[in-house]
Amino acid sequence: MCGIIGYVGAQPALEVVLSGLRRLEYRGYDSAGVAVVGAGVLRTERRAGRLANLEKVLDEGSDAMPGTTGMGHTRWATHGGPTDVNAHPHTDCTGTVAVIHNGIIENFAELRTELENSGHELTSETDTEVVAHLLEIEIARSRAASGSTGGSATTAAAAVAAAAATAGTAGSSGAAGGAADTGPTGPHPLTEALRAVCRRLQGAFTLVVLHQDHPEVVVGARRNSPLVVGLGAGEAFLASDVSAFIAHTREALEIGQDQVVEARRDGVTIYDFAGTPIEGRRYHVDWDASAAEKGGFPYFMLKEISEQPAALADTLRGRLSPEGSIVLDEERLSDQDFRDIDKVFIVACGTAYHAGLIAKYAIEHWTRLPCEVEMASEFRYRDPVLDRSTLVVAISQSGETLDTLMAVKHAREQKARVLAICNTNGSTIPRESDAVLYTRCGPEVGVAATKTFLGQVAACLLVGLFLAQTRGVLYGDEVAAYVDRLQRMPELVRRTLGTVEPVRELARSLAGAKAVLFLGRHVGYPVALEGALKLKELAYMHAEGFPAGELKHGPIALIEPGLPVVVVVPSPRGRANLHGKIVSNIQEVRARGARTIVIAEEGDTAVEPYADHLIRVPATSSLLAPLVTTLPLQVFACELALARGLDVDQPRNLAKSVTVE
Ligand code: G6P
Repeated sequence: MCGIIGYVGAQPALEVVLSGLRRLEYRGYDSAGVAVVGAGVLRTERRAGRLANLEKVLDEGSDAMPGTTGMGHTRWATHGGPTDVNAHPHTDCTGTVAVIHNGIIENFAELRTELENSGHELTSETDTEVVAHLLEIEIARSRAASGSTGGSATTAAAAVAAAAATAGTAGSSGAAGGAADTGPTGPHPLTEALRAVCRRLQGAFTLVVLHQDHPEVVVGARRNSPLVVGLGAGEAFLASDVSAFIAHTREALEIGQDQVVEARRDGVTIYDFAGTPIEGRRYHVDWDASAAEKGGFPYFMLKEISEQPAALADTLRGRLSPEGSIVLDEERLSDQDFRDIDKVFIVACGTAYHAGLIAKYAIEHWTRLPCEVEMASEFRYRDPVLDRSTLVVAISQSGETLDTLMAVKHAREQKARVLAICNTNGSTIPRESDAVLYTRCGPEVGVAATKTFLGQVAACLLVGLFLAQTRGVLYGDEVAAYVDRLQRMPELVRRTLGTVEPVRELARSLAGAKAVLFLGRHVGYPVALEGALKLKELAYMHAEGFPAGELKHGPIALIEPGLPVVVVVPSPRGRANLHGKIVSNIQEVRARGARTIVIAEEGDTAVEPYADHLIRVPATSSLLAPLVTTLPLQVFACELALARGLDVDQPRNLAKSVTVE
């Protein structure tokens, strides 16, 4: 939800920023903009529409944007429609300060009134623009205090010196990799101005700012919205996520909540909003630029679907210790804490929520603990009953989804224990949690989740086994047997993906359909929900998922001749009678003219007479079946959307990482 990149170094900033924005565009793509400081001038350019629109203008423009300090933004509109005027960067009255922002400034209306009453002219409908004007005021105040009049690089340098002399606090300068650490003796005036402004803001924000007179710095700040630092040789990057700078460096630095970061060519300094220097946590990114490229596929989504065997295998690798226990990645709780758990809540959004629904079946079956699954956006508003013996499992690919983050914070305030399942190292949700299990799926760029869903399901199953083991309800050998079955799933996923060509053909033949229904039972029900969500997201089609048994209580009224109905059939070897019941449900819809598309395991002959289209998946144990039954549904939605001529990587109105509530 809005992609941000800031750069200071020796390379032409515009190139660095645009290449970063190309990698960040999945976060938001309704408008884009850049700002570069060079030759004493701040230049900005912004355009509604995809990044390509902006690039076209920059190509056509005779004015180059010289300079080695810059920033860029790709927007997912919240306040104000996706127009040129509302696109970021936003500037102040003097045109010397530029701001880009991700999040929502909740008190922007009162700040705007205050600014307008004092003579500031705001030109956009955004919440962001107030920040530029508040910075203008702070910078003027600081210049007045230091006796500088401002306006030129020379006087700006004097302001830096004056501020450094009066600040009295030593910055905790972390050198950019390979560069000499010649950090300042105190915060830069722009850092101080942003810090002061942030203290006035309510809501969620990542901000990055540039100043015409200060090409030596790019300054950022964050609260409940993502910001990471890339440490290069003689250069530094501020970005929404590491993919923006991965082509330049794999060394990164975490920025905590309510912190300001000052990036210079020779180092990076972090302060909290009170002005105290902070030591950021450095980490090495364990994937490279090629992982975030299409690798010969026309769309990221197709690549990511194909990567699922590896994503699953990587997520499962090394999870069983030599002593036979399940290994989490981070554990800040004792075994006794886990033994004391008497209830589990799973909170998540979108596809991650569906992974949670699948997990419920396994967690309750294996641990005998009650497990509720809740959409994170609803969780904290209904006073869930939480205490020290409640485990809240937060599932989030990005680790930044604000609804999920707020659910986590609420749970922690109520003293519940929080375990995060996340795909993004260094992101906020794992840092706010007591224990973490990372899905090691690599970067997922396609907005609709595919490989990370499989990773989340596998991680949830591991959490179920972990709890069962810690609580002593499953023996070590039982846990090991399940892990062994899980370890065999990547191969079954590979096999399944090798047989989906008929699914593609079927999807193409249904490109003109008005709606598709999805039915399932047991773990097949969340799979049906996920199949419907994928079709909505990608093909903009009316698609609904129902528990097959619920059909007769209402949804059956939707069945009309020719309506495609996808049915996810449980194994005949699974829960007693379930298979027979769903076969009856298939007959019920077929009797009313539906075109049945049946996903059933190899060897299930009972469904054959009732399937207009039969999609086979390998046989596996009931609780693990979603790892294969989901695959044809992903392919179905993707292919159908492509047949409709749609962009499956960047569906309309969506964003991959939703950092507003
Ligand atoms: C957005 C995306 C979905 C995703 C959901 C949760 O809505 O479009 O694909 O499932 O966020 O994202 P998370 O990063 O928390 O898993």
